[in-house]
Amino acid sequence: MSQNTAIYPGFFDPITNGHLSIVSRARHIFDNVIIAILNNPKKNPLFTVDERIEMINESLKSVPNIEVDTFDGLLVDYAVKKKSKVVLRGLRALSDFEYEFQMALMNRKLNHDVQSIFLMTDYKWFYTSSTIIKEAASFGGDVAGLVPKVVNDKLKEKFGHLKKT
Ligand code: PNS
Repeated sequence: MSQNTAIYPGFFDPITNGHLSIVSRARHIFDNVIIAILNNPKKNPLFTVDERIEMINESLKSVPNIEVDTFDGLLVDYAVKKKSKVVLRGLRALSDFEYEFQMALMNRKLNHDVQSIFLMTDYKWFYTSSTIIKEAASFGGDVAGLVPKVVNDKLKEKFGHLKKT
């Protein structure tokens, strides 16, 4: 990968349209974007890493220069391994700011060469998150339009809300 590669890290449990908006806009800035899923079973994810990879690949199948990968340990070490100097994060409402600021400063302390770059989420997804989407879907709420179709189908499957035909 070239120098112009951004690492877009997260849990992506599951990927949302907000994430996809960040990825598609990042592609206008970076040659390559690596979607890096933190492999941390302690977080009790709804979807396995393989399921998350599959949903991301399906959602981005027509988008070139995207890699989907997993990582363990420190993000900055992973960035170095992938020869990238950019950690890309999406920013939503104000509530994200403190957490993102902490992470960015910690990452900079750990490795001064890796820069955190933020893209603002599209206003349509300003107040949504994987967590709130899972919560709504778990009670049978309709989250179409907030997640790609493949994710919506998988959520219905997970929570047993598949319509009988
Ligand atoms: O989807 P999230 O919860 O916003 O992702 C958080 C993530 C995975 C980006 C963050 O927890 C992370 O980078 N973890 C790796 C461990 C690490 O490097 N920690 C030091 C910086 S806080």
